[in-house]
Amino acid sequence: MRFSTGTPASAPDIAEMVARRAVGYSLEAPFYTSEEVYDLDLDVIFGKHWLFACTEAELAEPGDYVTLDVGRHSIIIVRDDDGNVRSLRNVCRHRGSRILENPCGSVGNLVCPYHQWTYRTDGSLIFAEGQPPSFDRQRFGLKSVSVRTVAGLVLVCLSDEPPTDIDEVAAVIEPYLAPYRLQDAKVAHQIDLIEGGNWKLVMENNRECQHCDVGHPELLSAYFAFGLYAEGDDRPRMRAVLERYRAAEARLQSACAATSIPLGGHRELDGRPTGYQISHLPLDGAGISFGAAGAQLSRRLMGQIAVPQFGDMSLHLQPNSWFHMLSDHAVVFRAVPVAPDKTLVRTTWLVNADAVEGVDYDIDSLTAVWSATNDQDRAFVEMAQRGASDPGYEPGPFAAIEGDVEAFDNWYIERLREHLGLNEAHQALLTQASGQ
Ligand code: FES
Ligand code: FE
Repeated sequence: MRFSTGTPASAPDIAEMVARRAVGYSLEAPFYTSEEVYDLDLDVIFGKHWLFACTEAELAEPGDYVTLDVGRHSIIIVRDDDGNVRSLRNVCRHRGSRILENPCGSVGNLVCPYHQWTYRTDGSLIFAEGQPPSFDRQRFGLKSVSVRTVAGLVLVCLSDEPPTDIDEVAAVIEPYLAPYRLQDAKVAHQIDLIEGGNWKLVMENNRECQHCDVGHPELLSAYFAFGLYAEGDDRPRMRAVLERYRAAEARLQSACAATSIPLGGHRELDGRPTGYQISHLPLDGAGISFGAAGAQLSRRLMGQIAVPQFGDMSLHLQPNSWFHMLSDHAVVFRAVPVAPDKTLVRTTWLVNADAVEGVDYDIDSLTAVWSATNDQDRAFVEMAQRGASDPGYEPGPFAAIEGDVEAFDNWYIERLREHLGLNEAHQALLTQASGQ
């Protein structure tokens, strides 16, 4: 099989690369390095799918806003005066100026800084100086962008025809998330990190924990050490881990049953536009949170969670987010591409709205594990980007433990295939032509 390298002399033939993509292998270099693929990703993936934008906790009061820049698009997500979450184009209807430049903040109205056209937080225009009496303000409200909330998570879609399977996905995940009451939570801390790697390398890295054993000593202390475990492994060390795990699992099951939270998980990471996975696993040690040896980090539990030992509810949403919900806090991750080899990763720590900093939690302890883990992951992603950019790179095979990485790549290729109109017959022709 011939692969394109990380340093193509000319634009890659994306359709050909999509058609000859080898299942079970990482992607060819231009998927991680080329401007053309990056532009296509912005258009097909980030322009047509539901993107995780922020949590409702970031929009606690009317006028609170978050801006989200995706390629050339800029979106305002704002809580309007009636308490609804709105998503609006950050483009003034006068002569097009950006209205809000900050990543987040709070406004009374949305006032364009150029000539002060003024919009309500629902996007309707209320002031435009110098227009004639015949001017119809109703025609010049800010354009809206599709938005929906799912148990406190705010998703937006730039397409006029957003994927409709979001309703199905929301119906599955809402009962898992609802008891955490993310819409009522408080933002304890937020960090933006630029990782020097393509957004898909960021997502692939997140979707596996094969690197955790050596890469994330802080994070690993909270989880059961199954990284090197094989079915039937009877070493005394593994037997002890297994026994602890079974006891913790039984505790978690009875806690879920007591609070009517669904047991088990769902995994549909590919095969649908809104790929997702939700799982609920017990934690090791004290079994509560990401503190040392599983210790609790915030004294007040989230929402309606009744017991501290409530494991890790983990959610993955394609294309750009992942979440960890613990009994005492939640950690929320959003990845947004900013260049072919740069990705903005925003991490947000949420706690119970009544939790008081310095009394119930402190920021350094709350954020220690994921700050360290993020930095370790950034280094992994940057190494992977350098490798994928090397002419010596060619796609390599996934291990069984990397099933979610493979599912992410499968989902991505499916989306491109659909966009490019590659049916099976067309694909076979392209594969033949490429000499595979
Ligand atoms: Fe916004 Fe003129 S461009 S008021
Ligand atoms: Fe990692």
